[in-house]
Amino acid sequence: MDWGMENRLARMFSPGSRNSVMLAVDHGYFMGPTHHLEDARTTIAPLLPHADALAVTRGILRRCVPSQDPVPIVLRVSGGATILKDDLSDEKITTSIREAARLNVCAVAMSVFVGAPHEHESLVHLGELVDQGEEAGIPVMAITAVGKELEKRDARYLALACRVSAELGSHLVKTYYCDDFPKVVEGCPVPLVVAGGPKLDSDRAALELARRAIDEGAHGIDMGRNIWQSDHPVAMLKALRAIVHEKATVREAMDVLDGEKVRGPRAAAA
Ligand code: 5RP
Repeated sequence: MDWGMENRLARMFSPGSRNSVMLAVDHGYFMGPTHHLEDARTTIAPLLPHADALAVTRGILRRCVPSQDPVPIVLRVSGGATILKDDLSDEKITTSIREAARLNVCAVAMSVFVGAPHEHESLVHLGELVDQGEEAGIPVMAITAVGKELEKRDARYLALACRVSAELGSHLVKTYYCDDFPKVVEGCPVPLVVAGGPKLDSDRAALELARRAIDEGAHGIDMGRNIWQSDHPVAMLKALRAIVHEKATVREAMDVLDGEKVRGPRAAAA
């Protein structure tokens, strides 16, 4: 692997655990001002020191993230549909690899829509993005989007989507945790990170999801709503770090969470 590509990957993954805690704040590109991400700058600022990488669009990066911050950036480069349309799969590449290089990002990310109306286009776009990423030394993360059809999130579907993404050359894949997750991991020859999905009933449920995903072979998380829609986002991120990097049990992670909570709801980081 090229030095630049290796260096970018190394900056996102801890040398100790070989895992990554990515903070996802790229929801607005199709969901608009999502709950607790309306003022992205204020939401992101206290979380930045605790993230191994930030998944973001160029608009929010330029306007809401200080250029002096050392956090590695995973730049979302696909878009073109919003929640007002039934078919979210009608995406194209909306940010060039040249722009990604100019923004000094550690990786670019795009959604692939396996089984959706625009499956073909999204997969061809992935192949093209990988070509460009290889040339520029920038890793590509494929995101296995499942759209509104949540019932598709089973191991058979996700194993297919992840494997196809890896076959087309993506260097990382972001997917969802599911029953039989080891089947998804087994069939995917590149590192997987898991999204959290919509806010779960409790912080504990999100910690449990992360624990299971890591135990079953994920190399980290790329989580959003279960962090910044929590009443205790910084505490939640620290608890997730304990799981992903320090092999903490859910109970130990809950102790981290409860310890941080005394600092107050939506407390700023120290
Ligand atoms: C938005 C995304 C998100 O980054 C991904 O879904 C992770 O966020 P969450 O944990 O909230 O699901 O790809 O398009």
